[in-house]
Amino acid sequence: MSQPFGIGVIGFGHRVAGLTSQLLAGCPRIELAAVCDPSAESVAAARALAPGVQVCADVAEMLRNSRVGWVLIGSPNQFHREHASAAMRAGRDVFCEKPLATNLADCLAIRDVVRNTGRSFFFGLVLRYAPLYTRVRALMDQQAIGEIISIDFNETLGFNHGGYIHQDWRRHRSAAGTHMLEKCCHDIDIVNWMVGSRAKFVASFGGLRYFIPANRGIADDIGPGPTGRRAFQEWPQTKGDPFTLDKDIVDHQVAIIEYASGVRASFHTNCVAAIPERRLLLLGTRGAIRADLNTGLVEYQKLGWDEPRVVYRSVSTAADHAGADSQLVVALADWITKSAPPRTGIEHALDSAVTCFGIDAALDERRVVEMQPLWKQAGIQA
Ligand SMILES: NC(=O)c1ccc[n+]([C@@H]2O[C@H](COP(=O)([O-])OP(=O)(O)OC[C@H]3O[C@@H](n4cnc5c(N)ncnc54)[C@H](O)[C@@H]3O)[C@@H](O)[C@H]2O)c1
Repeated sequence: MSQPFGIGVIGFGHRVAGLTSQLLAGCPRIELAAVCDPSAESVAAARALAPGVQVCADVAEMLRNSRVGWVLIGSPNQFHREHASAAMRAGRDVFCEKPLATNLADCLAIRDVVRNTGRSFFFGLVLRYAPLYTRVRALMDQQAIGEIISIDFNETLGFNHGGYIHQDWRRHRSAAGTHMLEKCCHDIDIVNWMVGSRAKFVASFGGLRYFIPANRGIADDIGPGPTGRRAFQEWPQTKGDPFTLDKDIVDHQVAIIEYASGVRASFHTNCVAAIPERRLLLLGTRGAIRADLNTGLVEYQKLGWDEPRVVYRSVSTAADHAGADSQLVVALADWITKSAPPRTGIEHALDSAVTCFGIDAALDERRVVEMQPLWKQAGIQA
């Protein structure tokens, strides 16, 4: 019997616990060898999944365990630099959840460690694994819509999802970065991928309008949810009150981007949408594509007289990111057991983060931001 493939998890919270349990279920030769997490609840979840797991007091202890060949990072974003760097310096390949880090200096520090150590760095931009977006990309490759002229895309979150964000560690920029970075870096990455160019100018407006104390009573107007929990508390991990001022993130934001290729895009996010969407509308010289991760549909229409046709229908739900989570787990298993290179690496991580940093600078400073200085600072040819 050959040796198992041992993984260590730093931050065994909701996200990476879910990925790990799917990984172990799909690939019995992968074992959860060690875990490092300050939460007793998260450690108990790790032990329930793998009773023999080594529970480490700190990352250094985990990295002394020679059974740990790969490290998966699911800690809050402020720790990604420290955790990813330590693991790669100790000779481990790393899977790191998005976003790369909360600020540019930390992002560049991780990039430098990837370069200097030569380790494999798998970055969790899960939406790239959604068959729905792969289908959109394939249509683009077939020139189905000619050249993109402009794009409209959004991520409007259901009110329980938004309520969860506004009571979790994600409500603090120091822990998570901005809402655009923490939540919408996926959507920015998908559009970066479709456009195949980098942002040249960005502008943005946004603020905190809804999740404030004056609106707390709206929960009573809405009434309890399907599980009997109060409105804004239905998201499984919810543990608090989203209507406090103890936070520094926005609850809605709009942004416009002009890419170096000339494509123009507008983006809209909102944390209290009665109609949630994750919609991407690409308008090209020869046709249009509309894809929505929530409905699971891709519609296509060539310029002409016909109605748009559904060309793809996801069988998975939005909870699985329309099949992306399952595909990501397959890619993780191949990366670990077959050394298959990841589809999403440090370059995608940095491109999406830098675009988000530019958008948030535009919001904070109320100006159009020219991206070239940021790309230059990141050492990226724009
Ligand atoms: N790709 C996606 O779709 C997706 C979805 C959700 C979350 N995420 C990302 O996954 C990461 C975790 O998010 P989550 O929703 O699981 O959050 P979570 O709060 O459920 O989990 C975070 C875990 O990290 C632990 N932790 C806190 N400080 C730590 C430290 N210093 N060292 C080690 N562990 C520490 C916590 O105890 C907790 O168990 C974040 O980076 C988040 O952005 C990605």
